[in-house]
Amino acid sequence: MTVLEIRGQTGTSRVLIGERIDRLSSHLPGGQAIFITDRNVRRLYPALFSGIPTVEFPAGESAKSLETVAFIYGKLLELGADRSTFIVGVGGGVVSDLAGFAAATFLRGLGFGYASTTLLAQVDASVGGKTGVNFGGYKNMVGVFQQPRFVLCDPSFISTLPRGELLSGLAEVVKHAAIGSAALFETLEARSGEVLSLRPDLLEEIIAKSVAVKAAVVGRDEKEAGERRVLNFGHTLGHAFEARLGLSHGEAVSLGMVAAAELSVGRGLLPAEDAARLRALLGSLGLPTSVSFDRDAILDAVRKDKKRAGGGLKFVFLKGIGNAVVEDIPLGELEGHIHDLR
Ligand SMILES: NC(=O)c1ccc[n+]([C@@H]2O[C@H](COP(=O)([O-])OP(=O)(O)OC[C@H]3O[C@@H](n4cnc5c(N)ncnc54)[C@H](O)[C@@H]3O)[C@@H](O)[C@H]2O)c1
Repeated sequence: MTVLEIRGQTGTSRVLIGERIDRLSSHLPGGQAIFITDRNVRRLYPALFSGIPTVEFPAGESAKSLETVAFIYGKLLELGADRSTFIVGVGGGVVSDLAGFAAATFLRGLGFGYASTTLLAQVDASVGGKTGVNFGGYKNMVGVFQQPRFVLCDPSFISTLPRGELLSGLAEVVKHAAIGSAALFETLEARSGEVLSLRPDLLEEIIAKSVAVKAAVVGRDEKEAGERRVLNFGHTLGHAFEARLGLSHGEAVSLGMVAAAELSVGRGLLPAEDAARLRALLGSLGLPTSVSFDRDAILDAVRKDKKRAGGGLKFVFLKGIGNAVVEDIPLGELEGHIHDLR
């Protein structure tokens, strides 16, 4: 097992990579524990919840709403939760965002941890202390920063993930490698076939290296005043591709990273060979690297995101494999440079 610690202003979080789910109870403080999960996870892993008070909601992004938070608060009241109650979110990123937000706000804050069951949650969503829900048609509009006490990442959960969900997680692993770990990038290049066949020891290694990148960034900039923005590599255009092309998050982020790498080459920041390596790696993992799109629709989606964020458009460029930089980009430069990815 690898243990990585994140010390933030909102608490210290221990990410337990390779810890077995049957050891979850050893990480719980004494007192009442309540599990929060979604219907799929409970159906797939019923034994995990046996005898434990559990709040369950329907699976999927549409559950990430204030209505579900209110539903969770109601159930916590029914179950007699008090300030000594400990909440465990068991599931993917939707569950951790919701369970963390509900725990951080109920009775002005209960202790909480996660047992993360998707690759995306293990390497990204449940690590770093961001919690929250969607609101008014915008993603993650309402939420708080609060570190979970622990994040248990048992790679055996990955074996039941549908392929699309696996690819979404792998896209974030590649993102972490591209922005912060040339060594992880090389491991992925050399062993993409074994990654796809879910070799357990290799999965644990890439989850640990991937979390290490995110944990280091979050440790230096917990509340996204600056450096944490590098974690958005591939996501500015990725979100636009996801919203306008009906692609999955992983597919969209893969294409967003290819486009961002091309823009980095265009700015003279990244050698063309490195952009080609990124593209080849994504392709070898089964992620898309080419797409045709309506330029105006994509730019419109980027403008909408920019308006929400306020100020200029911050864009994450690569300066090499394992090295990213955030720079302002005038919308005009984006307009001039984005085009179909072939
Ligand atoms: N807080 C953050 O810093 C942060 C970062 C990145 C993403 N996110 C959020 O994470 C969410 C996406 O997370 P996700 O991709 O884990 O989605 P998800 O939680 O919706 O899980 C995807 C699907 O897989 C199912 N599932 C979960 N574990 C499974 C397993 N072991 N086997 C089979 N099926 C399983 C779920 O029920 C769901 O249907 C988004 O809402 C996103 O905004 C948050």
